Amino acid sequence: MRVRYFRVAALLALAVVVSMAAPAAAQQAATKLRDPDVIYVPTPQEVVDAMLAMANVTSKDVVYDLGSGDGRIPITAAQKYGARGIGIDINPERIKEANENLAKAKVGDKVKFLNQDLFETDISQATVVTLYLLPSLNLKLMPTLKKLKPGTRIVSHSFDMGSEWPPEKTQDVNGRTIYYWTIK
Ligand SMILES: C[S@@+](CC[C@H](N)C(=O)[O-])C[C@H]1O[C@@H](n2cnc3c(N)ncnc32)[C@H](O)[C@@H]1O
Repeated sequence: MRVRYFRVAALLALAVVVSMAAPAAAQQAATKLRDPDVIYVPTPQEVVDAMLAMANVTSKDVVYDLGSGDGRIPITAAQKYGARGIGIDINPERIKEANENLAKAKVGDKVKFLNQDLFETDISQATVVTLYLLPSLNLKLMPTLKKLKPGTRIVSHSFDMGSEWPPEKTQDVNGRTIYYWTIK
């Protein structure tokens, strides 16, 4: 009798746990983001350093890395310059990795990673935007970038904005080109 009572109680407890978990799982599936527009390839650290130096990052800046991978650009901006950093990546694996790196870097009060589509995110608070995407994605982003606050700096690794928006500066960093624009 006692054993039967415990079995019934255990089954009831299991049913409660399953009913609580099911909506969460369904919600997660419903909000799954689409596939990335470009695969993950990290920017070498010396190029990250050169991009942030080119943008003249200071502690007053809010640095947005659009497609932030393992988080190295926002984390470096916070560590080296005391800037605030926001990283946006559509791939939850990258966000997990970036948050692990952030925990090690001990600048968690300055940096946030958002699992979002960069084309859907409000980036209006940015004062610096960093990119390592593709030429076509830079062109797609161009109208959004041009609406940012005057004085906002944009730095892109490897890819420019085509003839429509020539860069103000370029720099070679160990065979890789970085491009710089400011919002007028
Ligand atoms: C070439 S990696 C650059 C990573 C990092 N910015 C760096 O320079 O080391 C491009 C990143 O963009 C992310 N990505 C691709 N499409 C995206 C989208 N629509 N929204 C947000 N992130 C995206 C990928 O998951 C990948 O991590």
